Amino acid sequence: MTKSGNPADWSPASWRGKPIVQVPAYADQALLHAVEEDLQTWPPLAIADEVRRLRRQLGRVAERKAFLLQGGDCAESFAEHSANQIRDFFRIFLSMSVVLTHSAGLPVVKVGRIAGQFAKPRSSDMERRDGIELPSYRGDIINGTEFTPEARIPDPARMRMVYRQSAATLNLLRGFAHGGYAKLERVQQWMVEFLADSPVAERFSEVADRISEALDFMAACGLTAETVPQLQSVDFYTSHEALLLPYEEALTREDSVQGGWYDTSAHMLWIGDRTRQPDHAHVEFMRGIENPIGLKCGPTVDADSLLRLIETLDPQNEAGRLTLIARFGSEKIGRHLPDLVRAVAREGRNVLWSCDPMHGNTVTSATGHKTRPFDKVLSEVQSFFEIHRAEGTWAGGVHLEMTGKNVTECTGGAVAIQEADLGQAYDTACDPRLNAAQALELAFLVAEELKKDRASRPSPFAAAAE
Ligand code: PEP
Ligand code: CO
Repeated sequence: MTKSGNPADWSPASWRGKPIVQVPAYADQALLHAVEEDLQTWPPLAIADEVRRLRRQLGRVAERKAFLLQGGDCAESFAEHSANQIRDFFRIFLSMSVVLTHSAGLPVVKVGRIAGQFAKPRSSDMERRDGIELPSYRGDIINGTEFTPEARIPDPARMRMVYRQSAATLNLLRGFAHGGYAKLERVQQWMVEFLADSPVAERFSEVADRISEALDFMAACGLTAETVPQLQSVDFYTSHEALLLPYEEALTREDSVQGGWYDTSAHMLWIGDRTRQPDHAHVEFMRGIENPIGLKCGPTVDADSLLRLIETLDPQNEAGRLTLIARFGSEKIGRHLPDLVRAVAREGRNVLWSCDPMHGNTVTSATGHKTRPFDKVLSEVQSFFEIHRAEGTWAGGVHLEMTGKNVTECTGGAVAIQEADLGQAYDTACDPRLNAAQALELAFLVAEELKKDRASRPSPFAAAAE
């Protein structure tokens, strides 16, 4: 693979010479430097070889030979870090992925928003409550959620906590992915208990039964988890928004084996919709790292500026390097996405298009909760597929805010969460997430869309997993 980054004028610190938004000015600079020095010596979280593997797999997605499933919390938090929560997230993620593979006949590249997703861009610098104004909460890596002046002071020491929590989360995920939990023969046990008897669990159980039958058939032919490694483990990757650049820089290392700079805080990083100014620090940092990167595209991006960003971030036009994550909202996607898709196709750009149906569909309920109507989420996904079908391009993935828990944060879904129910289990540290049932329901909808195009795709035999 050729190197996308390493331009002569780039270094892990070259972003420091550019304008920057959404990153705090730390009052305690001495502490900031001490934390950065620690992080620079601590072990990498993602390994360059794994990162390269993900990049190759995303390249296959861009070539219509696989589908990308990316999802997890809007913001991880120090308060919510239990083994059960990670386990249930992983189970629901595997369930979604197997639903997609089963109906689309495609490998699914699995990328969690997890083990590092702690920094949040905010639309407003200040938050006002009962006449009092304080700096906004910016994610646990920066400050605290409590509405007190002390908690809202940016504290560099939080980066050490994030590193340690991410390492522990990643350790468990690696264990689940390779230690037998992900064995396909366990598909019947992936469903989370609290969904038992729900319509979506019943639907899942039909898929699981058919997979079990197929596995029996394969075993009779001599193909078992012992002989086919793909049946006993999965590749699971991590990702987060590369927002807090002092943290990202400190974890960026030159690969001693093949050269090139890797941001080892995660396998994949993305640029948020508020930090994609072409001449600013975030784009500067991201253009030089070798990781696969995402770029959020909201209603304010036009075709020319998008093409310019693509040129900066992926000058070698290499499939798998860049994922464009469309997040327009169910009402706006029809107005914005077709032009962008056409411009990108016209220029022959090998990008992967993914759909984030969350961030353009946020509303405030009568109860004062930030929420997302599930039917708007579904509608944006459906429009995303229709637009790509009409343009002859590939709707390659989805990017979701979701959890394996039974929360009440988004309204609607088969269990029909009402606005009045939102207070029951509203646990998110930032934006509202799909709960386990809604996430799985969405996977079934995506599966239906993928099935429609099955005949027009290359045979899955040409897409053999690595
Ligand atoms: C996010 O993904 O949590 C986020 C803030 O998204 P965006 O940058 O698209 O608003
Ligand atoms: Co969010």
